[in-house]
Amino acid sequence: MARDKIVLAYSGGLDTSVAVKWIDETYNMDVIAYTCDLGQGQDIQAIRDKALRTGAIDAVAEDARNLFIDYFCWPSLMAGALYEGKYPLATALGRPLIAQLMVRVAREHGAVAVAHGCTGKGNDQVRFDVTFQTLAPDLKIVAPVREWKWTRTQELEFAAKHGIEVEATKKSIYSTDQNLWGRSIEAGILEDPWVEPPSDAFQWTTDPRLAPDEPEEVEITFDRGRPCAIDGKEMDGIELIDAANKLAGRHGVGRIDHIENRLVGIKSREIYEAPAAVLLHDAHRELEFLTLSKESLRFKASVSQAYADLIYNGLWFSQLHQDLMAFTVSNQQYVSGTVRMKLYKGSAMVVGRKSENSLYRHELATYEEGDQYDSTAAMGFIKIHGLGQTTQAKHQLLKGGSGPRLELPSIIPPDSPKGS
Ligand code: ARG
Repeated sequence: MARDKIVLAYSGGLDTSVAVKWIDETYNMDVIAYTCDLGQGQDIQAIRDKALRTGAIDAVAEDARNLFIDYFCWPSLMAGALYEGKYPLATALGRPLIAQLMVRVAREHGAVAVAHGCTGKGNDQVRFDVTFQTLAPDLKIVAPVREWKWTRTQELEFAAKHGIEVEATKKSIYSTDQNLWGRSIEAGILEDPWVEPPSDAFQWTTDPRLAPDEPEEVEITFDRGRPCAIDGKEMDGIELIDAANKLAGRHGVGRIDHIENRLVGIKSREIYEAPAAVLLHDAHRELEFLTLSKESLRFKASVSQAYADLIYNGLWFSQLHQDLMAFTVSNQQYVSGTVRMKLYKGSAMVVGRKSENSLYRHELATYEEGDQYDSTAAMGFIKIHGLGQTTQAKHQLLKGGSGPRLELPSIIPPDSPKGS
């Protein structure tokens, strides 16, 4: 009898290689390995070959970089989505896309299940599972690493018994994930939040102390919130992010050290390096200061946070996301122009910005000739602006000296019903 088919997210690493055999034995299913290029810098055809050598009955490898940039990286940049104000969300953005593409492959092959190599402790399992459950509720979800609960030694024994290549998949001392939007590095010595990340944790960024002694300036041009050129040279997304990663990385820009609140209730110590994402977020923000009104900037901060949270929490395919995106696209319509950033030993500083839509008006701001601002109107404005406070001071705060002192109520009730 023909066996059921399952599509496995396959990275070529030890966990997912072992998973190919484990699924075969445990679930008695034929494994179709799925690998996509999100700019992680690996040869996906070689990974595909390895999947077939490891026992997958079929393997699909495809380049999804443009989808990733256009539908995930750029929108998150336009929205200003930084989780907890720091993490540009590279890993979190990749998961819903991988899961969506796997569902397509599952349909094409008539598979009844999908699988991923996430553990039971992290956010990635949530992002995969929620996306599968949303897009394809009929597909069974298998998570071998979450299910087998092995120690590393047991896993290696299983690998040895089944002749799974381990040398080529020598595990680094950290747990890492990467795509063109950034690298995530965790575990090992990094689990001690007091310890400075060793230099071997980083691959894309120069140690800021060893970065060039000369600062370098770069001009980044945006069109309605999307980056479109570097130093006046128009580039497609892949080229632009690659150039920004190299440029900012060379100057040590983009290292992030964060004690992060995972969705699953744990605080964890996360190291990221995301030179392009950090540089582009910084530059984009500066252009917003030039082109968005004060009220739009204030309101957008809450949209940025909501957007970052929903990406982090795996709720990509939600109506709230669609609604926030509608706001973001509308909000970005005047965010076009060029920002000049100076890169120097780990920092990216704005040094100039310009836009045809600039709300910075020299004729209003200047203290020199050509001033069109009406200073006499300021006096009446100040009186009305302060009226609430001056009234309150007179009749409450400053009435009879220094004003009342408050007894603050305690939020902790007495622990006996008789009270204290
Ligand atoms: N903490 C980050 C996140 O939840 C990164 C996860 C990295 N995953 C990994 N397999 N190392 O998005």
